[in-house]
Amino acid sequence: MNGLALIVGAGGIGRQLAENLDSSEKGLEVVLCGREKKFPSFWELDIEDINSLSKLKNKIQNHPNKLRLVINATGRLHSKTLKPEKRLQHLEKESLLESFSINAIAPILLAKTIEQFIPRDSLFNFASISARVGSIGDNKTGGWYSYRASKSAQNQLFKSLSIEWSRRFPSSIITLLHPGTVNTNLSKPFQQFVPENKLFSSTKASKYLIKIIKEQTPSNSGQFIAWDGNQIPW
Ligand SMILES: NC(=O)c1ccc[n+]([C@@H]2O[C@H](COP(=O)([O-])OP(=O)(O)OC[C@H]3O[C@@H](n4cnc5c(N)ncnc54)[C@H](OP(=O)(O)O)[C@@H]3O)[C@@H](O)[C@H]2O)c1
Repeated sequence: MNGLALIVGAGGIGRQLAENLDSSEKGLEVVLCGREKKFPSFWELDIEDINSLSKLKNKIQNHPNKLRLVINATGRLHSKTLKPEKRLQHLEKESLLESFSINAIAPILLAKTIEQFIPRDSLFNFASISARVGSIGDNKTGGWYSYRASKSAQNQLFKSLSIEWSRRFPSSIITLLHPGTVNTNLSKPFQQFVPENKLFSSTKASKYLIKIIKEQTPSNSGQFIAWDGNQIPW
């Protein structure tokens, strides 16, 4: 791959993706985008803020390289104001709104922001990190209403976009990814029940995700794929 790569979200997985791509893909100029500088090549971005997305547009416009890869690695499962619900009575309008804002609305508006820079003469990859718990077909345990539903919504939004882009940008590829359970701030409070061999380092998860992205082709755009390369039911 050569050109500009934007890794959006400077958390455990995002930062690692930027480092791995930077060291393995010599032709790629990798820029990490997020709210706190965590990589030498860094653009400030709050993906939930329309003005910040608009500034991103200017930065891409002024960049000499062609945009070839965007990975959305933002997301939120818990925060000061958000706690994954164990039962219906824990569900609040505010938690649904917060989850949908970061896990569904912001990623699709990121896609809208970068759309005008999709090259027509070369492959373009857009990958968004979703989560297996966003699968409706695979939901066997319930709970985590806001996070699950917001990731399902992200999947639906990008599935639709993959259909539109396959007509308008036939060399584009959209992939929804499940990284496995990864040792980052997001999973920290929930790691006690995860067997040691099922808890990936961000380095391991990042290598799996990069391998999948590199193997994707326009003909299979719009898939929801786990770290092991297997498709996840919607
Ligand atoms: N870790 C896992 O086990 C696991 C499993 C399945 C799926 N995932 C998914 O993987 C993705 C990456 O998660 P992670 O494990 O790397 O978690 P993480 O370390 O918490 O990273 C998430 C990142 O998203 C950023 N973010 C949140 N709101 C933002 C905003 N408005 N603008 C810009 N950045 C924002 C956070 O930035 P701040 O630090 O500034 O808030 C944080 O850096 C998420 O989509 C998550 O749902 C993770």
